Amino acid sequence: MPLTIGVPREVFAGEKRVATVPDVVEKLIKLGFKVAIESGAGEGANFSDDAYRAVGAQIVEGAATLWSSSDIVFKVRGPNSDEVGLLREGGTLLSFIWPAQNPELLQQLAAKKATVLAIDSLPRTLSRAQKMDALTSQAGVAGYRAVIEAANAFGRFFNGQITAAGKVPPAKVFIAGAGVAGLSAIGTAANLGAIVRANDTRAEVADQVVSLGGEFVKVDYEEEGSGGGGYAKVMSEGFQKAQREMYAKQAKEVDIIVTTALIPGKPAPKLITAEMVKSMKPGSVIVDMAAEQGGNCELTEPGQAVVKHGVTIIGYTDLVSRLARQSSTLYATNLFRLAEELCKTKDGIIDVNMEDDAIRGLTVVKEGNISWPPPALKPSAAPAAAKPAAVVAAPAAKKGHGHGGSSEPMAGNKLAVIFGVAAVLFWLIGAHAPAAFLGHFTVFVLACFVGYMVVWNVKPALHTPLMSVTNAISSIIAIGALVQIAPPLVGSVPRPEEWIRWLAIGGIVLATINMFGGFAVTQRMLAMFRK
Ligand code: NAI
Repeated sequence: MPLTIGVPREVFAGEKRVATVPDVVEKLIKLGFKVAIESGAGEGANFSDDAYRAVGAQIVEGAATLWSSSDIVFKVRGPNSDEVGLLREGGTLLSFIWPAQNPELLQQLAAKKATVLAIDSLPRTLSRAQKMDALTSQAGVAGYRAVIEAANAFGRFFNGQITAAGKVPPAKVFIAGAGVAGLSAIGTAANLGAIVRANDTRAEVADQVVSLGGEFVKVDYEEEGSGGGGYAKVMSEGFQKAQREMYAKQAKEVDIIVTTALIPGKPAPKLITAEMVKSMKPGSVIVDMAAEQGGNCELTEPGQAVVKHGVTIIGYTDLVSRLARQSSTLYATNLFRLAEELCKTKDGIIDVNMEDDAIRGLTVVKEGNISWPPPALKPSAAPAAAKPAAVVAAPAAKKGHGHGGSSEPMAGNKLAVIFGVAAVLFWLIGAHAPAAFLGHFTVFVLACFVGYMVVWNVKPALHTPLMSVTNAISSIIAIGALVQIAPPLVGSVPRPEEWIRWLAIGGIVLATINMFGGFAVTQRMLAMFRK
C-alpha cells in the first residue's frame, strides 16, 4: 500500500519555511506517495492550503491528526519533544536533526522505534548527493539574503554610477569565509555591482572567488588551511596574527563586511574586533552570519541588528527564513530527490538501503537503533572536489554580438542549404547581369565579407561589445575615406571629384569623433572602478 507523507506546520518561533511546496507535491504523488499537509503549513512561505489541494494533497486540520496519519514525516526543523510524542510508533522522519548536538533527541526518537534521516548528515563529499544537499541550498539562500540585508542598511548604491548629479563610487564589500554562504554572498554583491574582496583560510577557494566576480585577498603567511572534506581547520597563532592585520586594513577600506567563517563543531573564529569596527567609515555595515555560533565579530548581538560606533551590525539568525518561499522550494526539492533515492520502484514504498553510502550517512536512527555516527566513507577515486558546487550563478556571461564562440553553432545541414541557395543566386546573377555590373558586384561582395570579418572579430577587451563594434565600423569608414582623399600612388588612378573628397573628409571627422569619444567614455568608466 502506498505510504502517506505528512508535512506539519513548523512550530519553532519565527520559522516560516515549510518542508514541501505544491510543485513538489505533484512529483511526490507521481512517485506513488499520498501527501497530507497540515492546514496553514505553507502560510509563512506564501503557499495556501488551496494551492496544495489543487495538486492533489490532502489538507489535514491540526498537528495531532497530521502526525498520526503519516507514515513518513517531512519537516524542516528537528522535532521538539511534543512532536516526538506525536510521531507514529515505527514512523519515518526526514528533517534537520544535528545529531552531534542533540543526543537526547536521538534517544527519544529511538524509543519511538522510528527511522530518522537527518538531512544535515548527508555525506557532502559524494557528488551524487549534491542534489539532496539541503545545507548547501539553504546556505546559498542565506548568503544572498545577507547581502540584501546589508544593502538595505547601507545608505548608498552598490554599483558605481556617473549621473548628472555627480559621481557615485561603487561600494566595497569584504567577505570573510568563502564557503557555500560566502560564495553566494560574493556572487550576489558582485552582481549588484560592488567591488568584492574575499578571504578564506582554504587557499583552494581562490579560483571560485574570482570566477564569481570577487578578488581573493591572501593573508601574508604561508600555512595550509584545509582540514579535509572541504572544511577548514583552526589556524596557528602566527597565521591568526597576520590575518588580523590584513582584516584591520580591509575594515578601514571597505563599506560592508559579511562574515561567514566557520569550522564545524568549533565556536566561530573571532575575526572582526571592536577596534576594527571603530575604524570603519560611519554608515558601514557588518552582517555576521555566524551569529548563532557566537559570531565572527566581537560586537555582534545574535538575532539583532544594532548600531555600534556608527556601524550597523546585523546578527540575524533567520536569514533563510526571511526568504521562505525560495528556501522552502529548494529544501522541498532536496527532500524529493532523497525520496526518489528511497523509492526507486516508484510505488510509494520506501527502502532505507544501508548499503548505499548516501543513505547510510543520512540515517541516524534505523527502526529504533541509533546508527549515528556512520562509519567513515571509503576514500573515493574522485579528487577533492569535495566542497559542494558553488550555489550562485556566475555573473551573466557578457554576450558580444557574434564574437565567435558566443553564437550557437549552426547546424551543418542548415549551413549547407544557405550555401546552396547563395550559389544558385550567384550563378543566376553571373549568367544574366551585364558585364559592368558584375565587376562592381564582385567588389561589393568581397567588401561585405572583409568588413564582416573585421568588425565582428574585434575582441571587446577594454570596451563594451557595442562600443568595440562601432569603433571597428568607424575605422573601416576612416580607411575608406582616407583612400578617397589620398594622392594617387600610381598615375593610372584618377583623382576623385571634388565633392567626393569633401564627403570623405566629413566621413573622417565623424568617424574620428566616434572613435575618440568611445575611448573617452571607456576612460571615464574605468576611472569609476579605480581603487
Ligand atoms: P562552510 O563550512 O561552507 O563555510 C565556512 C567557510 O569559512 C569555509 O570556507 C572555511 O574555510 C572558512 N573559514 C573557517 N575559518 C576561517 C577563518 N579563520 N578565516 C577565514 N575563513 C575561515 O559554511 P556555510 O554553509 O557557508 O555557512 C557559513 C556560516 O553561515 C555558518 O556559520 C552558518 O552557520 C551560517 N549560516 C547562518 C545563517 C543565518 O541565518 N544567519 C543561515 C545559514 C548559514
